[in-house]
Amino acid sequence: MKKITVSAPGKLMLFGEHAVVYDRPCIVTAVGQRMRATVELTDQPMFQLNAPDVKVLNYQKPMSDLGKGDIPKGAKFVEIAVKNFLTNQSTSEVKKMQLHLGGVRVTTKSEFSSEFGFGSSSASTVCTIFALSKLLGKKLSQKQIFDLSYKTVLDVQGKGSGFDIAAAIFGGTLYFVTGGKVIKPLKINSLPLIIGYSGIKVDTVSLIDEVKEKREKYPFLIENIYDQIQKIVEQAKITILNKDWVSLGELMNVNEGYLSTLGVEGKKLADMIYSAREAGAYGAKLSGAGIGDCMISLAPPSKAKAIKKAITQAGGKVLDVKTNVEGVRVESRV
Ligand code: PMV
Repeated sequence: MKKITVSAPGKLMLFGEHAVVYDRPCIVTAVGQRMRATVELTDQPMFQLNAPDVKVLNYQKPMSDLGKGDIPKGAKFVEIAVKNFLTNQSTSEVKKMQLHLGGVRVTTKSEFSSEFGFGSSSASTVCTIFALSKLLGKKLSQKQIFDLSYKTVLDVQGKGSGFDIAAAIFGGTLYFVTGGKVIKPLKINSLPLIIGYSGIKVDTVSLIDEVKEKREKYPFLIENIYDQIQKIVEQAKITILNKDWVSLGELMNVNEGYLSTLGVEGKKLADMIYSAREAGAYGAKLSGAGIGDCMISLAPPSKAKAIKKAITQAGGKVLDVKTNVEGVRVESRV
């Protein structure tokens, strides 16, 4: 086999963002919009990448230069993923692999805009590592794929809990603790969510840094907030499994209160969240780093239409998103 196409889902954070950066749990669900990657083994010892969604066209360099020099932003995750995959193997395995390996050509194509905050970088990292393991016949467990992918994210952006990587690999809906210390699938069928996109692009790393500064200045306040968020997540885990949507909505609202206290709510998201609640949502909150990207609302079916209208009137765009979908998988191989 010389060529494989794989796909991995994007994600939406349901509960616990920001606190999960500091050794607390969160709940994340995988979404139906997927990242696809075709990975080919080539004869020439070159790394080649085409990722038109992030404006990377015909990028190439010798395999021996992987990870070196100036790497365009859109190429970083895939390039470092290839490098980490190849340097992580034991020496004998690398030698065996290099017999097969000249170069690697990767083409990524996303079913979602990288603006939505669905985690396109993490999904393409996971696709690259998963595809290489299949192509080179290296059996990796889901946890090993997680560890290599998470290392790649930390190498590129220096921070993050890894929840998005876990969603891309395992799929479904997960209870997750920082760095993959716990990754526990929550067995549910579906979630009655309505998703609103704010149209505001956020830089997750800057928001993590802003919250970090607050924590350094007021540790006695912020650590307490994280403890409370942890309790919300623990309760939400039980409530989700019981399909108690009324209570789950209330927990979303309480979680949002704490996110507002952390300073990451933002006016536009707040408008969308309050509009959804007023239109009859069980609950609504931001999802992810905050200020922009998406909000989520838990909706009784009878109120769905009114909630969608309210989100739109507040300036948001309702996205059609399936949740709780399958993790990384092979699409085709040649
Ligand atoms: O902005 P997103 O959707 O990537 O979510 C970030 C969530 C944080 O908890 C703030 C960071 C993290 O890596 O968990």
